[in-house]
Amino acid sequence: MKGAIFFSGTYGSTEQYAKWIGEATGLPVFDIKDAHADPSTYDFLILGSSIVYFKLTIRKWAKTNLSKLNGRSKILFSVSGAGPSDKLERWVAASFPSQLLSQTEHVALGGRLDHSKVNWLIRLSLWIGSLINPDPEASKEERYGFDHVDKDSIEPIIKMIQGYQATQAAI
Ligand SMILES: Cc1cc2nc3c(=O)[nH]c(=O)nc-3n(C[C@H](O)[C@H](O)[C@H](O)COP(=O)(O)O)c2cc1C
Repeated sequence: MKGAIFFSGTYGSTEQYAKWIGEATGLPVFDIKDAHADPSTYDFLILGSSIVYFKLTIRKWAKTNLSKLNGRSKILFSVSGAGPSDKLERWVAASFPSQLLSQTEHVALGGRLDHSKVNWLIRLSLWIGSLINPDPEASKEERYGFDHVDKDSIEPIIKMIQGYQATQAAI
């Protein structure tokens, strides 16, 4: 079984995870912005996506490539400020094609927000968001930034990929 990693992110943390997973497994890594990112030539897919304003940034690409993604084994790793929770699962379920959800294993990874890397309009929107966020910890992170990127957290994904690769070796 041949696999590949496709990622969507803006500020580098999703790309960082995609590259770590690629290094650990030997799978090729594609930015979905790359015109050569064609999922149809692979048996299993690792999809990485940041979450921005409660939505997966990979959602439009996933919709456009629905027929190519459908029927293939998939792991989706989301990268966000929010940690694993029902809330995060709801965001994922609401912004990933429903047809693909039941075929996809979801793993939530911690992201990074560095205010010096975002433009003033986004900083302003994050500041306003922090004022209305009912969760005090999330509000503080929105206002001051955070770094939850953790290389060790990719371990469950590596194990799943090794499972796919073992199936390949057995065929
Ligand atoms: C404009 C903006 C909106 C965001 N919205 C959310 C959100 O709704 N929920 C969340 O958990 N994290 C949110 N985040 C945090 C990102 O998911 C986090 O910074 C992630 O690591 C970004 O991935 P990237 O570095 O690959 O772009 C937001 C970040 C930005 C800059």
